[in-house]
Amino acid sequence: MIKLFQIFLVNCPLLFVFSTFDAQYPADQIHQDLVRNIDNQWPHVYEVLAQYTNEERQQIALRYKGTYGEELRDLLLRRVQHKEVFLGLIDKPAKYDASLLRDAVYRPGTDEDVLIEIFITRKYEEIMEIRKEYQETYGTDLYNDLDDDLSGMFKYFIFSIAGYNENRVSDDSTDLVEATREALNLMNPYNTTQCICLLSSLNLDQLWLIFDEYQKLSNQPIETLLNNEPDDDLRSGFLQIVKVVRDTPKYFAEKLYNAVAGFGTDNDALSRIIVTRSEIDLPEILREFEKQPWKMTLREAIVEDTTLNFKFALLGFLDHYHGRTMVHA
Ligand SMILES: *[C@@H]1O[C@H](CO)[C@@H](O)[C@H](O)[C@H]1NC(C)=O
Repeated sequence: MIKLFQIFLVNCPLLFVFSTFDAQYPADQIHQDLVRNIDNQWPHVYEVLAQYTNEERQQIALRYKGTYGEELRDLLLRRVQHKEVFLGLIDKPAKYDASLLRDAVYRPGTDEDVLIEIFITRKYEEIMEIRKEYQETYGTDLYNDLDDDLSGMFKYFIFSIAGYNENRVSDDSTDLVEATREALNLMNPYNTTQCICLLSSLNLDQLWLIFDEYQKLSNQPIETLLNNEPDDDLRSGFLQIVKVVRDTPKYFAEKLYNAVAGFGTDNDALSRIIVTRSEIDLPEILREFEKQPWKMTLREAIVEDTTLNFKFALLGFLDHYHGRTMVHA
């Protein structure tokens, strides 16, 4: 605790401003800006909101409603494109994730990539919380919806990592003997079921050890084995888990890179990743991003590829959140 406090002091001299958090001041600032800018462009609103944690933003929104009688959420969502980033600013993380999953399931053609990303990077308890929010918001059970929408081995995979089989324990102790045994099992001919069972345990440290043992025993990286999977979505899911295990910030940096590089911009992925990682590992992700084969920072890419409130909101997260992430890391 003391160590974190010192790190924070060094990195964020504004500590004392935040330690006496009062939702009234930002609520008033936001109101002034909303009233003043009748053109519906609010750079300062996002600058203000991004300086606070998600929990504090909840309080700001409550205070806003108390003082000015309007839902901040509705105000911000009015006339904006790419609503994800705005929902991410206002909603609790679990509710936000629930909305992402809802979109992934209900849009024409399931977005497998979003399902994979959310289920492999959220903890078991977080998934339970998301399921609760999903039920409260949409009135249906997340697992029922997934059950209707998915099929085959990919469904089995998603349900396994979602903790349905309860083999997904929140235990990060490691066991070398067990890792060696698992790695030896993988030496047999490729077996889809076996790989799903193994990868869905999601004890990242233990998986890291198993991958390491496998490499020693077989002289090839685990990716070579997993590339035997014929189903595209399943193979993609497996390889994404390996990336998360090896280096989670790098996994997200690569996804951001894919979102902005090349033709067009994947605005959904861009806002989803920036918002959901903002209080977890965004600074590390940005550092990794700069190692990508591109002479551009993520900030520059956003300035170039996005416009108006969407741009202000994303830049708010990048520019104003920086110092604060340290204390949550
Ligand atoms: C694949 O693995 C599963 C679970 O480990 C096992 O039950 C099944 O018999 C294996 N299949 C083959 C063809 O070895």
